[in-house]
Amino acid sequence: MFGSAITAHAQAYPTKTITMIVPFAAGGPTDTVARLVAQSMGNKLKQQIIIENVGGAGGTIGAARVAKSAPDGYTLFLHHIGQSTAPGLYRKLTYNAIDSFEPIGLITDVPMTLVARKDFPAKDFKEMLAYIKANKAKVTYANAGLGSASHLCGMLFMTAIGTDLTTVPYKGTGPAMNDLLGGQVDFMCDQTTNTTSQIKSGKIKVYGVTTKARLASMPDVPTLNEAGLPGFEVAVWHGLYAPKGTPKPIVDTLAGALQTALKDPVVKQRFADLGTEPVADSRARPEALRAHLKSEIDRWGPIITKAGVYAD
Ligand code: MLT
Repeated sequence: MFGSAITAHAQAYPTKTITMIVPFAAGGPTDTVARLVAQSMGNKLKQQIIIENVGGAGGTIGAARVAKSAPDGYTLFLHHIGQSTAPGLYRKLTYNAIDSFEPIGLITDVPMTLVARKDFPAKDFKEMLAYIKANKAKVTYANAGLGSASHLCGMLFMTAIGTDLTTVPYKGTGPAMNDLLGGQVDFMCDQTTNTTSQIKSGKIKVYGVTTKARLASMPDVPTLNEAGLPGFEVAVWHGLYAPKGTPKPIVDTLAGALQTALKDPVVKQRFADLGTEPVADSRARPEALRAHLKSEIDRWGPIITKAGVYAD
């Protein structure tokens, strides 16, 4: 009886609105990716997918919320590389980054940009580096908390230049961008999904992108590799999850809707305008996300331990 009840539930799914938890504040890069994907998946599933922003602690508050949610297909979770760095950074997580979730699929790898307030006194990366080193006591760096992509990029940046700076944490780089635009904070490393329009409108300065090659969306912006930080590459991968125990037929339905969304011309064009692109079909699948998440947890663990960065 119980088995047939699950089968009936899965076959009828979805019969009501779905909630997609985003573990950062509204208006930031994760929120931007989520709203694009949710809109398109909702069209395919013929059910609305609403976004709920549950920020804090670098994305781990939102992750914990999803891990405790009912595995019925009506709570989803969109998170980025932070899902793989949290196990090394947080010693008292209330969930397991792999075992508390059902992976649905990878979504996109977003480049990052090193950006500063409009009147930051440096015209290029070399001048920026010189200014930071000469004023390290007063320069401020914004991020979205321990475990966020902006924190990870900042940690790698400060290690690369051998200088620790004052960091100002936010619930997301959406709010951080507001302070950068207002000049209340000096610079940050943030994703092109959040910085492209501000860079193109001249409201913030950009010193480089964190990709191997320059971006088609911003061909005049040098890579940090060519600007003076050899080998400095960071890409923010994003994945979609459901709580552990969500029935396989529902996970498969969601994976199919995700693959359709990533072929949606509206999603593809918007991603391109924002400096990124959808992953290949073969990666928008549960087994691809599971394998990638595990390899990333294994990769970042030793780097984080060596950096001596963690939260109790
Ligand atoms: C956001 O969506 O606010 C960002 O992804 C935060 C971060 O990870 O830097």
